[in-house]
This record gives sequence, structure tokens and C-alpha cells, in this order.
Amino acid sequence: NTKGFIFDLDGVIVDTAKYHFLAWKKLANGIGIDFTHEQNEQLKGVSRVKSLEKILSWGNKVISDDEFSELISKKNNDYLSYIEQMSTQEILPDIPKVLNYLTDNNIPVALGSASKNARAILQKVNLISKFNVIVDGNDVTKAKPNPEVFLTAAQNLEVAPENCVVFEDSLAGIEAAKNANMIAIGIGDVTILNKADFVFKDFTEIDLEFIAQL
Ligand code: G6P
Ligand code: MG
Repeated sequence: NTKGFIFDLDGVIVDTAKYHFLAWKKLANGIGIDFTHEQNEQLKGVSRVKSLEKILSWGNKVISDDEFSELISKKNNDYLSYIEQMSTQEILPDIPKVLNYLTDNNIPVALGSASKNARAILQKVNLISKFNVIVDGNDVTKAKPNPEVFLTAAQNLEVAPENCVVFEDSLAGIEAAKNANMIAIGIGDVTILNKADFVFKDFTEIDLEFIAQL
């Protein structure tokens, strides 16, 4: 059975968490709320709107809808100024090895990301041509752990969900993959990603033989 491979973007292909951190910290501090690296961890895989809701609740702050929209758009503009500087050097180790193997063998490859900036980032790191299908935050309404993003990717790849393999670094993303009835491969800390079928620290730990036998 032909497998389809679906990659999360942030934390799997590139490490954008450091840029989200800088932009969220500036926003939070600007309205008198502390923002730590531990809190930033909790925003991995979480949508833009949900992230600001969490920050406001950590700071016990209530703001108007207008201020909320204004802050969200300022944060994204800040974030985009970091994205603007990205290059192929920011691709995480051994990602090209795996993507090249899949595309060289005509194995279907999709992106499944919560980010509305996903296409811009893939263009910056020159990987957009590696993906047969891209499903991002502009294409779905239900955030991970809802399986919508991965089910849409599978449908567009024309591969049955149970034949799809998902690479994810967030717990919400692993849950979304399992809710979609897919094979979930965690990239990161096994104590956090324990619902995954397999967990690797990063792609340097994954051999092509492992991918081939999935
Ligand atoms: C990914 C990141 C999250 C981010 C979300 C939305 O899931 O891990 O930290 O909030 O995408 O990203 P965006 O680029 O649309 O703000
Ligand atoms: Mg991620």
C-alpha cells in the first residue's frame, strides 16, 4: 500500500518557536504581562488566536475585541519581520535527506500546519516544490487536536488516512494525527509526545530504511 507522508512545519521542518517567542514576548510585555520560555512551549501547535487567549488568561487580562485584533496583527507583523530573514540554513538537520528520498521515489508528500504563514516560510527556505499538497491555517477552521488539517491533506493526496504517516512536534498535533487514524511520529521529547506511535529526538535519528518499511 502506498503511504502518504504529512509534515507539520513549525518545530519539524524549521525552528520558528524562537521567533514566535520574541514576537509574543514583545506583545505580552507591552501590556504588562510576563512571558517565559515555558509558556512559549505551551503555544506549540496552538493557533494564533488561541495563543493570545492563553497569554491574556495567564496575565489575568481582559481586553476589547478591537484591541485583540490589533494585538494579533501587530504580533504577526513582528513575526513576519523575523521570517523575512530566514534562509535554507534554517532547515532542521536531515529534513532534506528525508524529503529528497520521498520525492525521488514519487511518494506523496503534504504539509499539514496550523500556520497562516506556512507558504511564506516554505518559500523562504526553498522547500515549497517538495510538497504535492499544502494544507495550512488558511484552509481549515478546526485547530489541532481536531484532525481536520491532516484529513484534508490525506484527501488532497488521495491516500487513505490509515496509510498516512504524520511527523509532529506538538502534543496537540500527535493527538490530531491519532484522531485522524494515522501513524503518528513524534519529533522531540518522548515524555511529552507519549501518544505517538514512534518518537525520535530529531530527523538525524530516522534512517531511510525505517521510512521505507512503514
Ligand atoms: C504553529 C506553531 C504555533 C503557531 C501556529 C500559528 O502551530 O507551532 O506556535 O501559533 O502555528 O502560526 P501563525 O504563523 O499562523 O501565527
Ligand atoms: Mg509544530
